[in-house]
Amino acid sequence: MKAIAVRPGTPNSVHERDIPMPSIGTIPDGKGILVKVLKVGVDATDREINDALYGNSPPGDDYLVLGHESFGIVKEVGANVRNIKVGDYVTATVRRPGGSIYDKIGTYDMTSEETYYERGINLLHGYLTEYFVDHEDYVVRVPKGLKNLHVLMEPMSCAAKAIQQAFEAQRRMKVWNPKRAFVLGAGQIGLLSTLNLRLRGIEVFTLARAAGPHLKSSIVEGMEATYVPTSQTPLSELTKQVGKADLIIDATGSSSIAFSAMESLGHNGVLVWTSITGGKVTTSVPSDKINIEWVLGNKLLVGSVNANREHFESGIRDLALGEVMFPNVLPKILTSPVDGLGGYKEMMRLLVEDNSALKVYVNVANE
Ligand code: BGC
Ligand code: ZN
Repeated sequence: MKAIAVRPGTPNSVHERDIPMPSIGTIPDGKGILVKVLKVGVDATDREINDALYGNSPPGDDYLVLGHESFGIVKEVGANVRNIKVGDYVTATVRRPGGSIYDKIGTYDMTSEETYYERGINLLHGYLTEYFVDHEDYVVRVPKGLKNLHVLMEPMSCAAKAIQQAFEAQRRMKVWNPKRAFVLGAGQIGLLSTLNLRLRGIEVFTLARAAGPHLKSSIVEGMEATYVPTSQTPLSELTKQVGKADLIIDATGSSSIAFSAMESLGHNGVLVWTSITGGKVTTSVPSDKINIEWVLGNKLLVGSVNANREHFESGIRDLALGEVMFPNVLPKILTSPVDGLGGYKEMMRLLVEDNSALKVYVNVANE
């Protein structure tokens, strides 16, 4: 069957190739699930893997099948699969457990080992192919009514985890009840974080460079949040106007913005960093000022990566609630379909060149 792969370490090596059809017989305990891939989303991670900034092949192979944002339909289940049946729409988690205590309790997104295993990213093949198999533990059911949001399940899980981590960490404050949040960046993680925070009733300011009206501003406003163009109102200016935030999510992909956000967080607040910055940028910050403000304000910085099953499930609930609270808003994120696996060059072109492509995804098959 067809797959889209790279040769890790070789820049711009994306190509189509033939790989063997997988079988549920390779999955232990009769818990295998065979999924026919319908759609796969791609993001900056896929672009940076193709730029050879990171990513590794599975041991014994010299290629890595790309794709970590999956959406498909179940075609076959093992004898002991209990909660998923043929015909269900599903997505799958990305990370697979290593050997740490965190991996052993199902929180593989929190592994303490340096080596992590991620389908389509590191040491495991991904989903940009015609079929995949996986263990029931990693396959998550998508309600039929959310079929139109297909590849948003994985990005939503990362946003849901980031915010869940903030709330979990803020139990240290006993009575923390955030009123105002800044979301930095209006890419998929920024927009989906905006959704999660709005569903919690928080006042949200979502920031991105260009002045509206445009697609991003209309999505933000459709979720009853405020869009702030930093070309007109930089974060420092917004902070002067409305005050510091109780919670900030950075999803800009810029480490210098991630650091500068430290100056806009209020007392007892939490800043969450979600960007994977594969480059080598260095930045200078007013470190004495930040240091004293952070100490005197008991502030907290949390890094958040990936997501486990629980975050997929809660993220899917967010999307379902989002669809009824803010009708016709979320599908607008899905801007840029590519036709078939054979469209992989166009897929990369959209990722690299097209600034208006909010979400690039491949229509692998229809069903
Ligand atoms: C993926 C995450 C992954 C991270 C680091 C992101 O693009 O969505 O699942 O953990 O990259 O590899
Ligand atoms: Zn991703």
